[in-house]
Amino acid sequence: MRLTVIGTGYLGAVHAACMAAIGHDVLGIDVDIKKIKALTEGRPPFYEPGFDDVLTKALASGCLRFTASLREAAAHGEVHFICVGTPQQAGSQAADMRYVDAVVDGLVPHLPAPCLLVGKSTVPVGTTARLTTRIARLASAGVRAEVAWNPEFLREGFAVEDTLRPDRLVAGVTSPEADETLRRVYAPMLEAGVPYISTDPNTAELVKVAANSFLATKISFINAMAEVCDAAGADVTTLADALGHDTRIGRRFLNAGLGFGGGCLPKDIRAFNARAQELGVGPAVAFLEHVDEINERQRTRTVALTRQMVGGDLTGRRMTVLGATFKPNSDDVRDSPALAVATALHRQGADVRIHDPEGAPNARLAHPELRCGSDLLTACQGAELVLHLTEWVQYRELDPVKLARVVREPVLIDGRNALPLDDWRAAGWTVRALGRPAPSDGTSAAQAGRLLRATIASPAAKPGGGPTAAMAQALPTRTS
Ligand code: UDX
Repeated sequence: MRLTVIGTGYLGAVHAACMAAIGHDVLGIDVDIKKIKALTEGRPPFYEPGFDDVLTKALASGCLRFTASLREAAAHGEVHFICVGTPQQAGSQAADMRYVDAVVDGLVPHLPAPCLLVGKSTVPVGTTARLTTRIARLASAGVRAEVAWNPEFLREGFAVEDTLRPDRLVAGVTSPEADETLRRVYAPMLEAGVPYISTDPNTAELVKVAANSFLATKISFINAMAEVCDAAGADVTTLADALGHDTRIGRRFLNAGLGFGGGCLPKDIRAFNARAQELGVGPAVAFLEHVDEINERQRTRTVALTRQMVGGDLTGRRMTVLGATFKPNSDDVRDSPALAVATALHRQGADVRIHDPEGAPNARLAHPELRCGSDLLTACQGAELVLHLTEWVQYRELDPVKLARVVREPVLIDGRNALPLDDWRAAGWTVRALGRPAPSDGTSAAQAGRLLRATIASPAAKPGGGPTAAMAQALPTRTS
């Protein structure tokens, strides 16, 4: 089938290459000429495991091309996939729909024949209906362009796998013809047994925001439990393991730590909340505000714990942050919890160096004030404290004995609860993590938790006074 994929970010570029890989004749479109050039030359403009291979093969097969021209797109496609961003609006929680609208406005007047426009971007419920009206005004006489919504659930880091072997396909359609067209597009997946849910567009649009809201809620739930564990002297990782054995709950997305970030979950729950308010059902999803708050609080708590670990004053203290991206196996630093913590430490006077295997260039672009590189030992040299904030596999494989020789003080905060802490402690490291009891040293875990909460309550506490200093005295500076 002749497909176009409009918008070649993490979602669109992977979708375009994967659609070509399953035999369609695909034209990818983007307004960013540099991106088009890179993709045409087989150079992925972002890091995504496995994508370079699919891209190279698709280009070589002749089934994939790229252009910046919507006019060319209009002439090519019998199905046009809309994959542009729907970021958070400046000064509002709602989604910014200007890129989706611009695609429709730029494409539809050039359409020579009836076709199907398929939205994959995450949008406020009601978007298909709104665009249908807009398209009717823009289309040439006799050209019927129908809209369907087919939300994308891919995870960065697994984008190729998730596109070629999705958990499910959801099609929000208004006619049997549109449904049939989408079934033909995804025929190899349907033959492989991927569940295909055909529904109305409103439901399809909602499936995506509901899924992301559920995932965000699950993460914030376990992070809320981590706060309770800190107060009670309990261990959130054991709690999560025990909960996860209940198949109704499941262990996935119950990893407590620094919380969620990225280009999707944070802005999607906010946009959903904003849309629900417009629909007059704000109270139904008002809990998402708490989910967001709990998530943001993990960043503040991590900064407070860091301040506490260095005795109350961050000024001039050498910190190394491991990880800049919002999750491992990606170079995406959008709303990265790790970068948010690094920035806060830097603003409070710490001498911060960041390491990330893939995200350093994007981190430097977003925060030129921060020192960020991809050489691990250089980043750790002379550190008084190491913060593990994005759980790249490289960090799990670090030898704590060797690293202890490089840093000035072997002190670690595991912000992702992902390192083998017993090994680190055995190698002489003082280790702390949110939601996990401090090692016994005369200070009870519950007392440590209370002191941590006190620091968060007065984040501006001056060095040498107030609860920060009290806590610094009460807490261990070095325990193995
Ligand atoms: C998410 C959805 O999973 C995907 O279906 C949707 O299409 C886009 O948004 P993605 O943003 O790639 O995908 O990342 P995901 O793997 O969901 O992780 C989101 C964030 O949650 C990351 O910052 C991750 O570190 C964090 N997370 C995840 C936790 O803090 N704890 C967990 O247990 C799981």
